[in-house]
Amino acid sequence: MTIGEGEGWGKLILGGEHAVVYGHPAVALAVDLGTRVVVDTAGPQGVHSPFRDDRLDEALQRLLPSPDWALTITSDVPVGRGMGSSAALSVAIVRAVCRAEGRPDPGPDATFNKAMEAERVFHGNPSGLDVAVAVRGGAIVYRRTEEGPRFQGLPCPTWPLVVYDSGYAGNTRDLVAGVAARRPEVDPILSRLGERAQAMIPVLDDPAALGPLFTACHEDLRQIGVSTPELDALVALALRSGAYGAKLAGAGGGGVVIAVGPDPEAMVAEAARQGVNAFVTWPRSAP
Ligand code: PMV
Repeated sequence: MTIGEGEGWGKLILGGEHAVVYGHPAVALAVDLGTRVVVDTAGPQGVHSPFRDDRLDEALQRLLPSPDWALTITSDVPVGRGMGSSAALSVAIVRAVCRAEGRPDPGPDATFNKAMEAERVFHGNPSGLDVAVAVRGGAIVYRRTEEGPRFQGLPCPTWPLVVYDSGYAGNTRDLVAGVAARRPEVDPILSRLGERAQAMIPVLDDPAALGPLFTACHEDLRQIGVSTPELDALVALALRSGAYGAKLAGAGGGGVVIAVGPDPEAMVAEAARQGVNAFVTWPRSAP
């Protein structure tokens, strides 16, 4: 019996979602929520998972060397909320398989490339941003180029984010396709989203400076058609609760809104009074 364990981290996109699909920069952050996978090469065969669908089965076919291996998934990354649950899972499986086979860690690039095989099953045409964060941890700036993905580590912030859960999932594949269908009219907004992401880099350690960039990004994301009235209401709630700024994070159409503010616990308490599920999450630095 050989057991291999692997982990991948959930993420939040601070700026540049959707724009990143077209080569603009995006800034994202690993958070203190993750997915852990245990594979057992000698069974008993089966997949033990809190969620199961056709896409998971297909992703497993691509990543598991044998259908006879047993696999157990545990995760505290909310599914379908733009927090990178599928990327965290894909990376965790790649690492677990590697360890079960007794191979040395193949390094971030090879782990990224292998995990992308599964991420394409989940998301169709992913930029790779989620997988890059799940592999690396910490904060990164990510750019998709013709020569392949380019990502660079940034100093990991030390402030917490407040996450507001809309309670329903957005469909990343459909939302990305919807933006594609609205080009070229939305191209100037996509460029602006990339510029705002770039502008976040020098103020990453300053939530008060970052906040207004969040709110400006939300307005841009609304204009390209990926927000919803519920997400707009969550941004308004965060701002009323004292946030420096707030935005939807991820593909939109549901999922979560993120905010930074001087008193995160007070923002969570105010959300609870309004019947909204919100929680505080911290960046997870690269190991
Ligand atoms: O839904 P999420 O968090 O996995 O975010 C997708 C981010 C997009 O930019 C919309 C798509 C992508 O592949 O980068």
